[in-house]
Amino acid sequence: MEFQINQQRVPINLIWLRNNCRCENCFNDITKENKLTETLLHVAVKHYSIDGNDVHVVWNDDHLSKYDINWLHSQQRPENRPNLITWSGSEIESQISIVESEKAELTHDQISKLVESILQFGVGMVRNVLPSTEATEKICKHIGPIMNTFYGSMWEVVQSSFSVYKDTAYTDKVVGVHTDNTYAIEPAGLMAFHGLEPAQQGGETVLVDGFRAAELLKIQNQKHYDNLRTVPIEWHYNSDEFLHINAIPIINTSKVTGELEQIRYNTYHRSSRAPFTAKSNLDDYYASLKAFENILHDPKLAWNLSLQPGTIIFINNWRLLHGRRQFIGRRRLVGCYQSMNTLLSRGRYFKLIK
Ligand SMILES: [Fe+2]
Ligand SMILES: [Zn+2]
Repeated sequence: MEFQINQQRVPINLIWLRNNCRCENCFNDITKENKLTETLLHVAVKHYSIDGNDVHVVWNDDHLSKYDINWLHSQQRPENRPNLITWSGSEIESQISIVESEKAELTHDQISKLVESILQFGVGMVRNVLPSTEATEKICKHIGPIMNTFYGSMWEVVQSSFSVYKDTAYTDKVVGVHTDNTYAIEPAGLMAFHGLEPAQQGGETVLVDGFRAAELLKIQNQKHYDNLRTVPIEWHYNSDEFLHINAIPIINTSKVTGELEQIRYNTYHRSSRAPFTAKSNLDDYYASLKAFENILHDPKLAWNLSLQPGTIIFINNWRLLHGRRQFIGRRRLVGCYQSMNTLLSRGRYFKLIK
């Protein structure tokens, strides 16, 4: 069946149409769940008519369906997300949203602005927050629930916790740019950082847009890009109590749109298992990895910023890499993880994704 919608011919599959009838026998409008639980294959239309925006269909078993024509159209394509704007270095600083909180509260508009900024640039900020874990948590909960992992829900990065987490992050050493949770089946989508006590010297945060880096790699050499997009490599987190392992490529694209979806890159958590590709391809794979590293470590891509008490920075951990410079003195940072589900769900709530 084909409809004329806004001067466009939109082909609609009949089986899809019948399976997505919105009448009260087929669909529960309160729970938004299907009542029709089996695929109906042998369907035929007896008669249909269009009345304004309504399409009325009489099926060959005399079932009646009514559809909104714009809804029919909208269901033939993937969700629209805000345009991704990729960036190099501090050029992004003047473009991202920085919202001012009042007593750890955020208005509807402020949360929407923050989420929009994270969806577009991978970064957003909230200023004027009390420098405490409680105030940080309260602000983060405006986006949604905090993810609980073996680090706890709200975590504190301070050197004295090294004995518990045995992770380079909990030292005063330099930490090269990486994404978190590469070893997890579902890595945190969103990370919040609040620098409660900056170091006496050094300790700046370094952010790199992994999507920009992937775009540059693709322009430079398609084969390198394809290698990193298709060859799974294994990541692990190995502590006394937990052993998380996951094998997946460094560059991941959406199965629906083909667009960049997730970067996983963390040399600290790369396991010793050989990359999963033909042995004869390994030299090539490493050449591709080296090319990507050269881009990631190009100083032009790095945005260096110093996290100050009062400012929470939110970053998309499926896109941005973060690192830290070496420092002297005590440095205390609190933060948390939130899921990609939570971030996207907020984006839909604010109609930024539709
Ligand atoms: Fe990290
Ligand atoms: Zn129906």
